[in-house]
Amino acid sequence: MAKASSSFVCQNCGAAFNRWQGKCEACGEWNTLVEEAGDNAVPVSIRAKRRGRTFKLESLAGKSNDAPRLPSGMAELDRVTGGGFVRGSVLLVGGDPGIGKSTLLTQATSLMAKAGHRTVYISGEEAIAQVRLRAERLGLAAAPVELAAETSVEDIIATLSEGATPKLIVIDSIQTMWTDTVESAPGTVTQVRASAQALIRFAKKTGAAIILVGHVTKDGQIAGPRVVEHMVDAVLSFEGEGSQQFRILRSVKNRFGPTDEIGVFEMTGLGLREVGNPSELFLSERDLGSPGTAVFAGIEGTRPVLVELQALVAPSTLGTPRRAVVGWDSARLSMVLAVLEAHCGVKLSGYDVYFNVAGGLRINEPAADLAAAAALVSSLANAPLPTDAVYFGEISLSGAVRPVAQTPARLKEAAKLGFARAVLPEQTRGDAPADAGLALQSVGGLSSLVADIAARGTRRGDDDGAPRAKAASNATPARFRRQEG
Ligand code: TYD
Ligand code: MG
Repeated sequence: MAKASSSFVCQNCGAAFNRWQGKCEACGEWNTLVEEAGDNAVPVSIRAKRRGRTFKLESLAGKSNDAPRLPSGMAELDRVTGGGFVRGSVLLVGGDPGIGKSTLLTQATSLMAKAGHRTVYISGEEAIAQVRLRAERLGLAAAPVELAAETSVEDIIATLSEGATPKLIVIDSIQTMWTDTVESAPGTVTQVRASAQALIRFAKKTGAAIILVGHVTKDGQIAGPRVVEHMVDAVLSFEGEGSQQFRILRSVKNRFGPTDEIGVFEMTGLGLREVGNPSELFLSERDLGSPGTAVFAGIEGTRPVLVELQALVAPSTLGTPRRAVVGWDSARLSMVLAVLEAHCGVKLSGYDVYFNVAGGLRINEPAADLAAAAALVSSLANAPLPTDAVYFGEISLSGAVRPVAQTPARLKEAAKLGFARAVLPEQTRGDAPADAGLALQSVGGLSSLVADIAARGTRRGDDDGAPRAKAASNATPARFRRQEG
């Protein structure tokens, strides 16, 4: 007798195995295999019979219509999606619990509903009353959003197929959905995949835009199979630190738009507020005049963003000094430290290094190297950097400062926010407009910048108590202290 096929599927990565085992060989996680009823594959005898249909091949050149978009009415959300929701597209929004996914989507659906579009919000996690309560708190209770607390995909699709097709459907969250077509329990990889598939098919067929909310695991991946990320048209991740009010919406994948844009929001008592000028926000609590901080003039997507980089270099008692980084790539930090040691004579091997990007932003640009190096040397030399200066430039392994793109935009933003000078790569100096409004200091090599900063400082511990006390106060990250003026 043929055995009913079932397989053991890793709930972390989606890999399937014939037998149970303690460790998933694909991703290395322990105790993540769960027995699930296998896909009832079509027998080979039936599959092989049909001859394929022929179709016409097209050329690359030819007419293409711009994807019709539906703006959400929230400029920061539209920036990340690339100008609004595309008809028939499916978007996955991931983020930690409590970060504000439901709040963001309640606001977006309400705004669209108020603009006269049919929008539906399906909550699988909260009862209708809870969703209403949130809408009330947001002052959006009057918006004509259609609500339901449902988890059966078949019921949802049947209901939504009636009447006018909704313009936007929010499914909060995909992990709570289940479909009859597979036997596994809700939340398992197979269920999540099958439910997502059914909803995506519905979106493509009817032209409704669907937003799926996805949970994230403790290491920040969107829970469930990676296949869902491959199936959807765009993946947005909603990030932020719980203790802070800023929330950053970042596009991780986008078939219809850019992937390097960020949208910045602030969580307030009345919901999420859009932050049109993030630089002002990230610099609002600067710790003026203390060593170890440098302002980086960065670019996020199409928008310049100034942000404070904070470094603390402290003597280490450990055999292997600590290197702790928040908001930047730790490999990149190691590289900058190595260049400082090898080419600039800065000995860091006996020091712990802590590095933080203020405001919870994550920086991926190599252009941050120069600002990071300036912050590190400033902390080590106990020499505060000029508070009216911004830094940008990439550092190469030879210790040279390499040019970076978009110099005029960076300088313009710095001038707008009242900065008076910019430290930039020698080769990009020519890119700067004549009326930049900033004094430009170009550096060709990192060693000249290091010498410049070190000349102004006193090495910590060289003299008595006072600088030590300063160093200790510097250990409190700037954002936990407010400085007036
Ligand atoms: P929520 O949208 O429920 O998070 P998620 O769906 O991502 O789990 O938001 C939860 C948090 O947001 C909660 O801790 C309360 C806070 N919040 C505010 O601060 N202001 C508000 O107006 C709302 C609605 C929520
Ligand atoms: Mg929620």
